[in-house]
Formats: sequence, structure tokens, C-alpha cells
Amino acid sequence: DTHQLLLLPGDGIGPEIMAQAVKVLHWLRDHRGLNVELTEELVGGASLKAHDTPIRDEVIEQARHADAVLFGSVGDPAWKDAPFEKRPEVAILRLRKELGLYANLRPAKLFDALLSASALKPEVVRGLDLMIVRETVGGVYFGEPRGIETLPDGTKRGVNTEVYTTAEIERVARVAFELARQRDGRVCSVEKGNVMESGLLWREVVTSLHKAEYSDVTLTHMLADNCAMQLVRDPRQFDVMVTGNLFGDLLSDLASMLTGSLGMLPSATLGAENEHGKRAALYEPIHGSAPDIAGKGSANPLAQILSLAMLLRYSLNRPEDAELIERAVSGVLADGLRTADIAGEGDARATTEQMGEAVLKKMAAQ
Ligand code: NAI
Ligand code: MG
Repeated sequence: DTHQLLLLPGDGIGPEIMAQAVKVLHWLRDHRGLNVELTEELVGGASLKAHDTPIRDEVIEQARHADAVLFGSVGDPAWKDAPFEKRPEVAILRLRKELGLYANLRPAKLFDALLSASALKPEVVRGLDLMIVRETVGGVYFGEPRGIETLPDGTKRGVNTEVYTTAEIERVARVAFELARQRDGRVCSVEKGNVMESGLLWREVVTSLHKAEYSDVTLTHMLADNCAMQLVRDPRQFDVMVTGNLFGDLLSDLASMLTGSLGMLPSATLGAENEHGKRAALYEPIHGSAPDIAGKGSANPLAQILSLAMLLRYSLNRPEDAELIERAVSGVLADGLRTADIAGEGDARATTEQMGEAVLKKMAAQ
């Protein structure tokens, strides 16, 4: 049957790097029998310009009905002083919220050829391949009560509350356990149960889900502060990590520097299954719209192309196609091809287009 994909290139370098991912999609359609129907829509500043809104309700509906969404990035300095609802970034915030995208998957995989780009020593990161699963719709960013209150003596008090329910913990833990089964079979659950009640419950729920349904996976627990330290000391000890919203925000940004370039890192955000057993899913690079280099044809398209690989693996059940793309990326890097963001001193600089074409050529040569 035909897979429906919604492409949302967005702003800045978004359309430039999306064009390279679309070439890969067309190649898979022509050479590997991938049956896809592509629909493209404006979001972010591009949509504000055309429709006076960062994302139209119809586009949210299309996203809901698609098999998956491939997103570029939104953000345009032209709207930096606009009221909140007229900011490009509202497009991605609304998509995450309205599709109920509760599990953010951030892989940190270091390609051998980019060993020197890592913030850490080669012997600590060579072969690194970990995946952080961050809960994204709950926790301290959304918990009630929250607000800034003025006390009778005039001093102010800012309040946030970390809240997690059993169901919220269980569904994100399930995503982590399922991923581990497709990877190295290990999950490390991260919280601060030593000082937080929500962390205590987190550990309890993950432990009982493990016991009931995933005892084939190896489960360990780690306190979040120790985890930050361990990620720098010996990141290869981890396979899949699962954690709440706040700790996941920090730890996934930390992990991104283990591999070096922002332009290389894909992500997925998964939601609940609908009544037809279809899971909402959005795939995007972790970087933004890079207005400083937009229009120059110099952006690195690999994060977008690797986001497509994740889409093929997790939403379309096409792991062979995902691996083909990942091997091709690894191959072009091994050949020494570099966009400006990952180039060393003496390296020639490939354009966005040259990098995209090189990936296609490698795919064809395999
Ligand atoms: P950014 O990620 O866009 O750029 C940071 C730096 O990395 C810049 O110097 C940029 O040129 C470079 N860079 C990023 N991606 C690259 C690529 N593929 N190839 C080569 N170089 C690359 O972050 P920044 O500058 O903080 O934000 C710019 C805009 O993007 C803002 O409007 C922000 O709100 C938005 N943004 C959107 C996101 C999304 O759509 N999910 C995520 C992050 C930021
Ligand atoms: Mg962040």
C-alpha cells in the first residue's frame, strides 16, 4: 500500500536540505520499490508570508492523517518581534502538541570519519552509538501548580511542579524498551529518585513494566547528575536511555556535542497510536533554520537525510532502506566529502547539493 508522507521544509536552510532528502525519496521509489505519495506544505515564516499564520489547521489535519511527517526547520528573523502567535516556531510547537508527540528520540552516533569533530578524546567516543528517549509533553515544563505569585510581604515566588503519572511514564518507557530490542538490548532509565517523588515513581513504573513485559532487555537505573558525568566519562556504556522532559533536554544537548556537528544529527518524535493503529510521528534535524547561512547553498543536508532514514525505520518499517542511507552517509564522509560545518582547515567544501548527490551515488553503488 501507499505510504503518505507530509513534507514541511519550513524556513531558512529548511527547503535547501529538504530538497536533498526528497531526491533520496525519489531514488528509493525508483530503485527499491518504495511506494510513497508526497505532499508538501508551507510552515513557519513561509506560511506566515503566504497565509498569515505559522501553520494552517488543514496542515495539522494532514499531519494527523499522514504515515509520517518529515520536517525541516522553522524560524525567520523577520518575525522576531511579532506577537507569540505570529512566530514561525509556533508551527512546530503546535504540531508536537496537537499530534501528542510524547517521545523524542535523539540518536548520538559518531561516524568514524568525524572522530576529530567530537568534543571528547577519540579513545572515549570511537564507535559511539546511543539513543536518548526524552519524554516531551509532561514533567516540570507543564506540571501544575505553576506561576509567579506575590507573597503578602511583597516578595515574589516562581513555582513549577514536576508531575508524572503512571501512564505517562509507562508509554515512554515502552518506546525505549521496544527500541532496545531493535538495538543492543539495553535500557538505562534516568531520574533523581533520591530527592524527587516523581523520580521515585518513575523508577517504580519502569521497573514493573520491565518485569512484566521486557525482561529480555537489560535494565539499569542511573541518577541524572551521575548520568551527565558518565556521558562525558564513558558514553559508550549506554545503548538506549530513557528520561523525563527536563533531564532529557539537558542530557540530549550534552550528547549532541559528543558527536560534533549540529548539521549531522537527526531526531524523531513519536506519539500515540490512533484508532487505525497508526502512530503519529515527526522527523526533523535537531538544528534550526540557520538564517546566517540560508540561501548560500552551503548547509549540511545530512541531518535531514538521516532524519529520513529514521522515518523509514520507525514509521514505514523499512530498516534496509534506512541502513542503505546510513551506510551511504558513512561512505561519503569516509571519502572525505565535507560541508563547511564539518570541514577541517585544509578540506575542500562541498555544497548542499554536492553532498546530496554524493549520498545518492553511494546508495546506487551499494
Ligand atoms: P541553528 O541550529 O539554526 O544554528 C546554529 C548554528 O549552527 C548556526 O551558525 C548555523 O549556521 C549552524 N547550523 C545549523 N544547522 C546547520 C546545517 N545543517 N549545516 C551547517 N550549519 C548549520 O540555531 P539558532 O541560530 O539558534 O536558531 C535559528 C532559528 O532556528 C531560530 O529562529 C530558532 O528559533 C529556530 N530553531 C528551530 C528549530 C526547529 O524548527 N525545530 C530548532 C532550533 C531552532
Ligand atoms: Mg534544547
